[in-house]
Amino acid sequence: MSTPVRLDKYLADMGIGTRSEVKTYIRKGRVKINGIIVKEPDIKINTISSEVYFDNEPIVYETVEYYMLNKPAGVVSATVDNHCETVVELIKSGRNKDLFPVGRLDKDTEGLLLITNDGDLAHRLLSPKKHVPKVYYARIKGMVTKEDVETFRSGIQLDEDFITLPARLDILEAGDISDIKVTIYEGKFHQVKRMFEAVSKEVLYLKRLSMGELYLDESLAPGEYRKLTEYELNKLKGNE
Ligand code: URA
Repeated sequence: MSTPVRLDKYLADMGIGTRSEVKTYIRKGRVKINGIIVKEPDIKINTISSEVYFDNEPIVYETVEYYMLNKPAGVVSATVDNHCETVVELIKSGRNKDLFPVGRLDKDTEGLLLITNDGDLAHRLLSPKKHVPKVYYARIKGMVTKEDVETFRSGIQLDEDFITLPARLDILEAGDISDIKVTIYEGKFHQVKRMFEAVSKEVLYLKRLSMGELYLDESLAPGEYRKLTEYELNKLKGNE
């Protein structure tokens, strides 16, 4: 069952323009419903069965949005901030209805960040009980060793009352500066940086590659984003 929505609201909700702008577009004949030009802004639309076109482009009524952002360094993982640009401000969908980032990456961290207004999905992905794996690539100051791999595997005490779950550390290249991949199952504040601090090493660069079944699309440059595909969304929701 879908509640009927006025045509001007339908188009405004989908980011086509403000309510008064879309009224003008409708009156000018730029909108079709089920193949017929409609000029009445107050006509009621069935959001599921009606096929709405604006300038011959189909406009599907979606109230939940899912974006994959390749977070750039220098932007904060928040919805609003008094001083810095936020990850939500990078999404220029025209709607931006209640979008928020699912979890946080540090200001200097890059990589995969899911931006959505689906509170239920966010809740499931962030639940500490779910142990959703997060994979990071990092460049580390110093030689990462097999002992570090063992330490990460045994769990690291970060706080008086917090020991990390066993984490997987893969050394991609060891040297004065080492390249690694690490998989963690929680999302504590500065977790990867603090885990390396615990083995007396410094993270020089950090990038998230995946979160659960969602993998960063490497064709996205830092700062770029795209909608999740149906396939990605189903995977993330555990339907495939
Ligand atoms: N661990 C960190 O230290 N920083 C991040 O941004 C993410 C994980």
